[in-house]
Amino acid sequence: MSFPAHRPRRLRASARLRDWVAETRLSPRSLVQPLFVCPGKGVENPIAAIPGEAQLSADRAAARAAKLVELGISAAILFGIPSRKDATGSEAVDADGVVARAARAIKRAAPELIVIADVCLCEYTDHGHCGVLAPAASEKGERTVDNDATLDLLAREAVVFADAGCDIVAPSAMADGQVAALRDALDDAGHTNVAILAYAAKYASAFYGPFREAAGSAPAFGDRRAYQMDPRNSREALREAALDVEEGADIIMVKPALPCLDIVARIRESFDLPVAAYHVSGEYAMIHAAAERGWVDRDGALLESLTAIHRAGADIIVSYGAERIAEALR
Ligand code: PBG
Repeated sequence: MSFPAHRPRRLRASARLRDWVAETRLSPRSLVQPLFVCPGKGVENPIAAIPGEAQLSADRAAARAAKLVELGISAAILFGIPSRKDATGSEAVDADGVVARAARAIKRAAPELIVIADVCLCEYTDHGHCGVLAPAASEKGERTVDNDATLDLLAREAVVFADAGCDIVAPSAMADGQVAALRDALDDAGHTNVAILAYAAKYASAFYGPFREAAGSAPAFGDRRAYQMDPRNSREALREAALDVEEGADIIMVKPALPCLDIVARIRESFDLPVAAYHVSGEYAMIHAAAERGWVDRDGALLESLTAIHRAGADIIVSYGAERIAEALR
């Protein structure tokens, strides 16, 4: 028996057959929409570097949440833009802070939406680092983050968010021991059902630029390389994820997404927990900037990006394009 030189790809012949045999199906259910919440009422401050997104006051965030549910999106992740920033990020642990207030409003307006709260200090500190600084500079004159003092604040922040009704807390400070610290504090406060989405492999990435503009959280000095991961490493990501799983993580996240598809795939193979990936602000902004010049098709590039992230193994995808893609998938 001999095979013809060119075997026909019959299953590619029609859109219906292609769709029938597609190996990956992106669903709005898998998507998480980030929301930036700010003080006030009726506030919608557009974020230039994240087209389509705005800093939203609690009432506006609640209205947006209702729309996300209507589109079949499962979850939103909240980032707080506080009214004031200080050295220790006090508003992060304020029971009446921006995220707590937004979470309560969202839960009233759209109880079905899973509310995730990002747990970090960089949006709340005046120096923009993800934790509190050690009192004295090192011998080299550098000020560094005090890991253990930071853990205490992150744990209190998580309890405030859980008290406000958040279903999931997502520690993103890359402080050592942050998952265990949050788990203990949540359990002690009676929040045994609040889950932890761990930013397990969070790289020191150049793609976070637009986010830092949105949150006014660019570090005032230095960078985040002492606590975020080196993009040259992949085995380290497995080590970080293993530690977070041991500490009690319920979902493990890789960030950024497209530059880390190999990491997403390796983590998917190595762990049996749900895997999330964060398609970050820079990845989203690049598509918009190129589309504006007519160089790529915006929705096409976005859909292909999110599909690739899903194909690599992410069950959950955080993206600023969540709402747009959910609309396109309809
Ligand atoms: C907070 C945090 C950041 C992002 C998510 N959580 C900023 C950072 O690490 O600088 C970035 C997300 C994005 O770029 O979309 N630590």
